Amino acid sequence: MKIAYTVEEVRKQVKAWRQEGLTVGLVPTMGYLHEGHASLMKKAVEQNDRVVTSVFVNPTQFGPTEDLEDYPRDFDQDCKLCDSLGVSLVFHPEPSEMYAPDFCTWVNMDVLSKTLCGKSRPIHFRGVCTVVSKLFNIVTPDRAYFGQKDAQQLAIIRRMVRDLNMDIEIVGCPIVREEDGLAKSSRNTYLNAEERKAALILSQSIFLGQKMAEEGETDAAKIKNAMVEKIQTEPLAKIDYVEVVDGLSMQPIEKIEGATLVAIAVYIGKTRLIDNFILQ
Ligand code: PAF
Repeated sequence: MKIAYTVEEVRKQVKAWRQEGLTVGLVPTMGYLHEGHASLMKKAVEQNDRVVTSVFVNPTQFGPTEDLEDYPRDFDQDCKLCDSLGVSLVFHPEPSEMYAPDFCTWVNMDVLSKTLCGKSRPIHFRGVCTVVSKLFNIVTPDRAYFGQKDAQQLAIIRRMVRDLNMDIEIVGCPIVREEDGLAKSSRNTYLNAEERKAALILSQSIFLGQKMAEEGETDAAKIKNAMVEKIQTEPLAKIDYVEVVDGLSMQPIEKIEGATLVAIAVYIGKTRLIDNFILQ
């Protein structure tokens, strides 16, 4: 497995693969890789001749009061995992390699990025769309892999690819959970023992909402209220949002008919965690 720190090194390697007629998959990550990321890389290795994983804590998707400095990092461990899964190249640029001091071109999405996480993180998706576009331009993959845990991010990237005619297949992969239900996340590492227990309220409320929907409940408010009440039983939990939205537009709906996303963001102490389920 190779490690590249510059755009030029990646381009050179991808060009050589292209000359051999090989297909390329990209798994964009911010590192501190867990089994959720591993599932993306496994899928990418299955579906492509070569796989690039980017490990880059992207500063432009963090707000001024968010956890950019504290975001967990363990590059050596990340490389071991990538290598063991058959990744061919890890791209690990410095922020200065990705953003020139006078950088001023952004990929900004309306509508989909204004609801859910976009409300409390107003610049987040601009940063995500911009860095993902840059990674797409650098790696020029055939396919790129994203987790369903960041459901709004996945919907936004699918829309960006469609709207900007990017010739890349976006592959979404299911949420990976701990044995007790908590969705895997690099941010779970912030939780102390008491908070880790309290964090189970997220998956418990997700499973409750999912059961109601599967049993035929189509009233979004009823599902939402039941989930809110469940989360409120946990004293350490503070709700950012519980929303039922259209699966494509990310806009709130009243009645569940077609593809629907039920998504939550909850603070456990200072840690903001997200979870969701989708209905087709
Ligand atoms: O999901 C993430 O880890 C990030 O938002 C991504 C897609 C790697 C962009 O920085």
